[in-house]
Amino acid sequence: FDLPKAKNEPVLSYAPGSAEKKELKAALKELRSKAIDLPMHIGGKTVTTGDKVPVSPPHDHQHILGHFHKGTSAHVHQAIDAALAAKADWENMPWQDRAAIFLRAADLLAGPYRAKMNAATMLGQSKNAYQAEIDCVAELCDFFRFNAEYMADIYAQQPESAPGIWNRVEYRALEGFIFAITPFNFTSIAGNLPAAPALMGNTVVWKPAETQIYSAAVIMEIFEAAGLPAGVINLIYVDGPMAGDIIFNHKDFAGLHFTGSTKVFQTLWQTIGKNISKYRSYPRIVGETGGKDFVVAHPSARAQEVGTALIRGAFEYQGQKCSAASRAYIPESMWPELKKMLTKEMASVKMGDPEDFTNFVNAVIDERAFDKISGFIAQAKKDDGVEVLVGGNYDKSKGYFIEPTILVAKDPKYRTMCEEIFGPVLTIHVYPDDQYEQTLELVDETSPYALTGAIFSQDRAATLLANEKLRHAAGNYYINDKPTGAVVGQQPFGGARASGTNDKAGSVLNLYRWVSPRLIKENF
Ligand code: NAD
Ligand code: ALA
Repeated sequence: FDLPKAKNEPVLSYAPGSAEKKELKAALKELRSKAIDLPMHIGGKTVTTGDKVPVSPPHDHQHILGHFHKGTSAHVHQAIDAALAAKADWENMPWQDRAAIFLRAADLLAGPYRAKMNAATMLGQSKNAYQAEIDCVAELCDFFRFNAEYMADIYAQQPESAPGIWNRVEYRALEGFIFAITPFNFTSIAGNLPAAPALMGNTVVWKPAETQIYSAAVIMEIFEAAGLPAGVINLIYVDGPMAGDIIFNHKDFAGLHFTGSTKVFQTLWQTIGKNISKYRSYPRIVGETGGKDFVVAHPSARAQEVGTALIRGAFEYQGQKCSAASRAYIPESMWPELKKMLTKEMASVKMGDPEDFTNFVNAVIDERAFDKISGFIAQAKKDDGVEVLVGGNYDKSKGYFIEPTILVAKDPKYRTMCEEIFGPVLTIHVYPDDQYEQTLELVDETSPYALTGAIFSQDRAATLLANEKLRHAAGNYYINDKPTGAVVGQQPFGGARASGTNDKAGSVLNLYRWVSPRLIKENF
């Protein structure tokens, strides 16, 4: 029963005149042409409620792409019941058959659904074609394929036996159901969070972010087309706290698979803690949360490489990657060259609608994000000791557009060097060349997060010093590369401290959290 060896899905270029670009353009046109209904999916059935909430592109907020049907507490109960009803058959299905469903989902996504999935992510979340392709196609296919391989690796882990004794481990699914709560910023994460526990034999209630429902619906369509049995994954569009009240009080709640902000995750953990005696088993709590990701340049680093990493790391997908570079520490000797390069290159960066493929930067996700991010910029313009080097303007008349903005802060503990902004704002602090070691200490102590970070250096001793001083400052740590763009199967992703439980999405570590091993010893 060897599975096909997992390989990363090749990323298509969408070059002018390419077949894939034509298909994607057609899919964008088709999705834009009519407002669609987005029902929930519970127990294999679509569920409408009449409480219809409009969905619009962040870059064109007056256009309506469709309406999702908002659910009530009754739908949360129905989703739990459906997950529990589907559990025994799903868990008892041979694991190869479970794997086959997700491998088929990957092939459907890479093939007939590729254009639709990309178009839905571009329109619903304002991602450009390249950012959509690496997210909702390549990364999501990779999650499905690599996780299937990792599942086989886990099941193969067996203890020693002895003459007359057979020891074996049965990797049971958890007893109960899993609650997957997903963020807006990566369609791939939204798909993986319900899929990974399901692959291991669990059944799931899935609540996506309201701002990602448009592409979540396509993922569900693919799961169903791939043959996922009814009730294994139940997709509901409900208020988070209301759903939490019901689910975290349920005796069969077996695990939380969460990605989102630190504050929300901590609140959920506290609620689970308060209810701990109500559950049949201790629930598994897996969360990937916020970040304040850094780039540090040593004086030996190459300014052009640092500049490219900063532009891509900070501004791809409008800085709304948990991994985005948002604070940088640059030596005085490099600053004149880097400043010149950043100013020149950023002048050619285009912002606008993702449907125009030449736009590198698109809109931020919604009005709440726009107000929060623009608030940081407005304050920075007033504060002493902060210079706006690039950008600084914003406009929400048609879409939630914020210019990619570079601030230069004298104080390395200025608020935009410390707080997660989650938008296209990079703050740079310029340090004296002879203060490299102290700067590394500052990087470590400035933020409670530890998600991603990068060090640029051509001096081995300086690199080793950073590796040591920043040992706990990032779960994904890059040497001479930008801190974004982890690839499943190559750089398993996750952070510690306030950034999460570091169970590394797309890895055996994550999948182990969704099983409860039973050791069986049998004497002959
Ligand atoms: P968010 O915390 O606002 O929302 C995440 C999810 O939680 C959404 O589905 C939301 O509806 C739900 N939610 C909010 N309050 C809830 C409650 N009280 N009960 C139940 N559910 C609730 O985050 P977001 O804006 O969607 O995503 C951005 C955040 O996610 C950033 O902080 C970012 O760093 C983080 N993130 C982290 C990673 C990672 O791998 N570490 C990856 C992606 C995003
Ligand atoms: N895979 C995403 C990145 O590394 C989270 O940017």
